[in-house]
Amino acid sequence: MSDIYPVNPEIAQKAHVDNEKYLEMYKQSVENPDAFWGEHGKRIDWFKPYTKVKNTSFDTHNVDIRWFEDGTTNVAHNCLDRHLETRGDQVAIIWEGDDPSESENITYKDLHERVCKLANAMKARGVTKGDRVTLYMPMIPEAAIAMLACARIGAIHSIVFGGFSPDALADRLRGCDAKCLITADEGLRGGRKVPLKANADAAMEKFDVETCIVVKRTGGNINMKDGRDVWYEDVTAATSSDCPAEELDAEHPLFILYTSGSTGQPKGVLHTTGGYLVYASMTHEYVFDYHEGDVYWCTADVGWVTGHSYIVYGPLANGATTLMFEGVPNYPSVSRFWEVCDKHKVNIFYTAPTAIRSLMREGDEPVKKCSLDSLRILGSVGEPINPEAWNWYNTVVGKGKCPIVDTWWQTETGGILITPLPGATDLKPGSATRPFFGVQPELVDNEGNPLDGATEGNLCIVDSWPGQMRTCYGDHERFIQTYFSTYPGKYFTGDGARRDEDGYYWITGRVDDVINVSGHRMGTAEVESALVAHPKVAEAAVVGAPHDLKGQGIYVYVTLNADEEPSDELKTELVKWVRHEIGPIASPDWLQWSPGLPKTRSGKIMRRILRKIAEDDFGSLGDTSTLADPSVVDELIENRQNRS
Ligand code: WT7
Repeated sequence: MSDIYPVNPEIAQKAHVDNEKYLEMYKQSVENPDAFWGEHGKRIDWFKPYTKVKNTSFDTHNVDIRWFEDGTTNVAHNCLDRHLETRGDQVAIIWEGDDPSESENITYKDLHERVCKLANAMKARGVTKGDRVTLYMPMIPEAAIAMLACARIGAIHSIVFGGFSPDALADRLRGCDAKCLITADEGLRGGRKVPLKANADAAMEKFDVETCIVVKRTGGNINMKDGRDVWYEDVTAATSSDCPAEELDAEHPLFILYTSGSTGQPKGVLHTTGGYLVYASMTHEYVFDYHEGDVYWCTADVGWVTGHSYIVYGPLANGATTLMFEGVPNYPSVSRFWEVCDKHKVNIFYTAPTAIRSLMREGDEPVKKCSLDSLRILGSVGEPINPEAWNWYNTVVGKGKCPIVDTWWQTETGGILITPLPGATDLKPGSATRPFFGVQPELVDNEGNPLDGATEGNLCIVDSWPGQMRTCYGDHERFIQTYFSTYPGKYFTGDGARRDEDGYYWITGRVDDVINVSGHRMGTAEVESALVAHPKVAEAAVVGAPHDLKGQGIYVYVTLNADEEPSDELKTELVKWVRHEIGPIASPDWLQWSPGLPKTRSGKIMRRILRKIAEDDFGSLGDTSTLADPSVVDELIENRQNRS
């Protein structure tokens, strides 16, 4: 039996839905999705109202997903213009700088004006509807402004996390054939500078764009290439702030976001306009029990989907005040998160288990010196939250009065799929609990047979929801192969899950070759291909292993070319190499020299064995009799790097 934390009655009193209402709405949402979404689709403004609601097929031969397809709308209109009359002077974005002395309040009126100006500046440089614009930005208001400016003119943005390397940026520029890149001179995180424009220059050597717009953040010394590079401040100074929002089809692409999978290069996940915004805004309101006047803070970076849906689009569509933080949790001190909560009277706080664990390690004092009285709802996202971290979050940060919503979702899903609702759901630490409206999870065995009742299996979703990705940009076949072919007719998440006797879901983690490092997805194949690109490396295998702070760390096995000798210097060099090829988030945590890898007679690496050794759990390796050379296993165990 797990602990149960019943709904807090004080929260329930004000909440949008109680349990009865949840059950009733959920029932309608799955029994009659057309009626349910037909009604809730109206939460956003439409230029031309839709008459069709759901038109979706998960048929493996013809996956086709359309929502509200004959309606027209615009995301920037919904996030800005429609609020001007009622809340033009309300703060839309509270920006909190890396340095605590820097912050800025941007009203809906200001934001609207700044978005229109950038949109006009982009148009003046030839960017039009359907063009791809890549953003490589620090966490400054201009990141949100650039997203909304793209949405306003129907350009498709693709954000590349500022921690990615020039090579990774170049791949993503090429992948979507970007016409324009928006970046900053340098970013600022934890008092350190991030050379964004210098990285962008290196990337543009490999894939050039027509226009590069550069925001001045630090004033650092950078190169500007004549005819291509322009300062944001210059191009927006003179432009008009009148820029009507383009009327776009509901299925017009809104953004591409590259994410790692179990094979190959990262996929360009494509999200579209109408369904995405309906879903992002509705989940933001219900999951966080958002009410008018709340100050809401999601600590993610806009480079990840969480930043898209729950810093920018969901909150702004709801007319919320959303906080955007440039810095890191431990600068200038480990109280920073809590100081920011007090400074801006944050009511709803949404972060990742990895951040909670690292702050928990600092003890209670850094939290207790802040009041945190404004907090009402706490959220968690990115990986399973371990009960110890859940309890600390609950008692020390939330003082036992703030429900924790453990939200399970993915880049592909656009918004939260499995989650508690604060006024409706009794909580169990470590469980993402129950599906959101319209979401039908199913657990299947490895043959795809649906499993009933309390059980454990592979997590699929059997029907579409409006926020779902529509395709892999430029490669619909890959979309079908990746998500709809393992269990034909179902969307396969890549996660395993357990369902308990109350129908609650417990995500157990990825069942494919994807690892979750501090809530960020890393494909083992990507790290492997980075390693084998090094001239001294013959072969590499990468697996995840439990890591106290990161959830999972990256464990790499490296076989060197015959004439190379292992050394500590070479180890350091290889770790640096991977950071350089992909970015710091891909840094190997453990590196083991392995003269041989465990392979079947047909040459397939047996990852199951490598995972066990990396987990320091080699007592139960299972059947090794099919190995070509079983002796390599003893050698690997002998030299394992992660000993408890
Ligand atoms: C993968 C998706 C969705 C935004 C952040 C990550 C894992 C995510 C939870 C959670 C357990 C979680 C899953 C999922 N995950 N949230 N609450 N409990 N696991 O987005 O990079 O697309 O990664 O993150 O394994 O498949 P992403």
